[in-house]
Amino acid sequence: MHIFLDTANIEQIRQAARLGIVSGVTTNPSLVSNEGMADYEAVVKEICSIIPGPVSAEVLGTKAQAMIEQAHQITRWAPNVAIKIPATADGLEATSALSKDGIKVNFTLCFSLNQALLAALAGATYVSPFVGRLDDIGHDGMALVTDIVDVYKRYGLPTQVIAASIRHPQHCVAAAKAGAHIATVPYAVLMQMIRHPLTEIGITRFLADWKRVSPA
Ligand code: G3P
Repeated sequence: MHIFLDTANIEQIRQAARLGIVSGVTTNPSLVSNEGMADYEAVVKEICSIIPGPVSAEVLGTKAQAMIEQAHQITRWAPNVAIKIPATADGLEATSALSKDGIKVNFTLCFSLNQALLAALAGATYVSPFVGRLDDIGHDGMALVTDIVDVYKRYGLPTQVIAASIRHPQHCVAAAKAGAHIATVPYAVLMQMIRHPLTEIGITRFLADWKRVSPA
């Protein structure tokens, strides 16, 4: 399972990039506005220059034609940009048109297997089931990831599943077990993935033991 970073925070992206394990970034209008950055184009261009893998930027139009036009504009910002299109009928139309033009679409705000199936039929490169938001309303978000992965496998559909709206490290474990191709994680969750108290205790103990035998 690949790891994408789910943030528009440039400093976090730089720090995570140094770890050498981040292969893409996902943003959305909320994440960009959380950072207080109004210049969406500048933000996306900067992220694309830091991370060579796919960087998802979301369209803001709601009608298919507006989404298609905006997507074409955004793809001119950087060669590694992918376009986030919401899971609506207009979004589906836009996804079909953009995929035919060879543009990578991340079909986002996906909350059902039907939406994911249609995304794949429309040629989306990625589909993003929002796990945490389903959990929030008492559903089982990861069960949706499992279902999408199974159905895509059964029919040989090449769309990659991005487990999104990840809230904690256990979501990453479950996404990996479910066979998600990618988990897109907030920076804080990425840090929680690497941390383990026994590792920290182990290092402290090793250093203390070494000090006892090494010459002062
Ligand atoms: O990747 C989707 C993500 O940005 C949404 O996360 O926590 O707002 O549901 P959240």
